[in-house]
Amino acid sequence: MPDLNDPIQSAAEQPWWREAVTYQVYVRSFADLDGDGVGDLPGITSRLPYLRDLGVDALWITPFYRSPQHDHGYDVADYRDVDPLFGTLGDADALLARAHELGLKVIVDLVPNHTSSEHAWFRAALDAGPGSPERARYLFREGRGPDGAEPPNNWKSVFGGDAWTRVPDGQWYLHLFDSSQPDLDWRNTEVGDMFEDVLRFWLDRGVDGFRVDVAHGLVKEESLRDQVVPDREAGAGSMVERANTDEPMWDQPEVHDVYRRWHRVLAEYDGDRMAVAEAWTQTPESMARFVRADEMQQSFNFDWLLAEWSATAFAKVVTGTFAALADVHAQPTWVLSNHDVVRHTTRYGGGPVGLARAKAATLTMLALPGSAYLYQGEELGLEQVDVAPEHRQDPAYLRQKGTPQESDWVGRDGCRVPIPWAGDQPPFGFGPGHAQPWIPQPLDWGRLTVEAQEKVGAESTLAFYRRALAARREHALGSGDTVDVLTADAGVLALQRGGLTVVLNTGPEAVELPAGEVLIASGEVTDGLLPPDTAVWLA
Ligand code: NOJ
Repeated sequence: MPDLNDPIQSAAEQPWWREAVTYQVYVRSFADLDGDGVGDLPGITSRLPYLRDLGVDALWITPFYRSPQHDHGYDVADYRDVDPLFGTLGDADALLARAHELGLKVIVDLVPNHTSSEHAWFRAALDAGPGSPERARYLFREGRGPDGAEPPNNWKSVFGGDAWTRVPDGQWYLHLFDSSQPDLDWRNTEVGDMFEDVLRFWLDRGVDGFRVDVAHGLVKEESLRDQVVPDREAGAGSMVERANTDEPMWDQPEVHDVYRRWHRVLAEYDGDRMAVAEAWTQTPESMARFVRADEMQQSFNFDWLLAEWSATAFAKVVTGTFAALADVHAQPTWVLSNHDVVRHTTRYGGGPVGLARAKAATLTMLALPGSAYLYQGEELGLEQVDVAPEHRQDPAYLRQKGTPQESDWVGRDGCRVPIPWAGDQPPFGFGPGHAQPWIPQPLDWGRLTVEAQEKVGAESTLAFYRRALAARREHALGSGDTVDVLTADAGVLALQRGGLTVVLNTGPEAVELPAGEVLIASGEVTDGLLPPDTAVWLA
């Protein structure tokens, strides 16, 4: 029997994911071993020692399943096979085996809200026609208005335009994202059964967990009623910001039954298998519902990512997050960047200031109780790239381009530019030889490659991330599950976690530090002064 009063023993008994740092690999853009300009599974395997040396515990790999790639893999045509673009099932097995050999866990992406329109089920649904059991796996409906020529309701796609597309026999199908991503009907039991098989397929192969795409979207309000949108256009809203509080398409209570079922499936396997929710919820309380004891293990805390650069904004998120999670006895999951949002270096202003702030926010995050996710390239200090219009490939951008709703938004390609590993010109070691990557890399990335940063040594962003991850293991883990906000006044955030004090200066002036030994800082700390845009850990 474990003795839960013994701190050393109970730490050893903790599931691996509880305070894990997971590195997100965007498969298309991490490493291209076969030289076709697109990253692949053997490329990831070849770089696993880099991740081990960085000091992360796990990697999450974005979808590599068979897919026509309209949404770069988030449109799955076969959940049980690897797309030839990325390799084979044998390559996936080899990746898992090598990762485990190196002590790294592997989380794969699960896309249950929609399939690709090229999935066998959707093709069968089109062939079988209205009223068929094949159509009942999706959300097909008759249109409104004369001849049913109007969509069945007023919902808009997250990617822009109507959330409905009409098929030749006159019916419409729902797609909250691209028209090549038809939404499944999770009220149909066949859908749940199919996904349980998919979970087991990958669990049997040895994956340690799943990142669940659009976890808040699977079940829609049954009536598929109009969204109430006073004085503005109806919309599923952008993935990141949603203006409307009436959301019949999101966060329905029944969605949690799905995760209770998956919890039971995961629990049948050894090794603390887990799931992490991508749920853009409206409140910390609804985020917390995804990590109730019988549901998922983690849920991204997107409020942290959305917080502006300010001590009070960060303090509010920390306090609100722990308050919401206390009710469900779960720990937070922190994240600052991913493949859908502007990189945090750029969000915080770009250039040297943006980078200093990004490092400071990361260091603050890594001190907090719970788990954390890093996005590939942030350890190199990469910024959002201004991708030229002719190279943009994000379907969310392409759906809006040339429409009356077109905005200044340039899509998500800018955070998906392939990683610079070595050399002084593109492809910077992303692939062999001169094969150019699927999105062009900036010509000046030679100074940001892993190779160049290793030459620079301790001053590089890469060296800082390695130090920060080591410091987390040494000083933050085991410092307790709670954190107190000591102050968030005058631009200075001070947090206390056990014996560890974290101070983050978001203001314009240097501030005096309290007494204590400096364990690590994100910038230069001299004479007891913490410069602007810098964070420090004190003991
Ligand atoms: C969230 C994913 O992170 C994003 O990249 C994708 O476009 C949508 N879900 C739709 O699957």
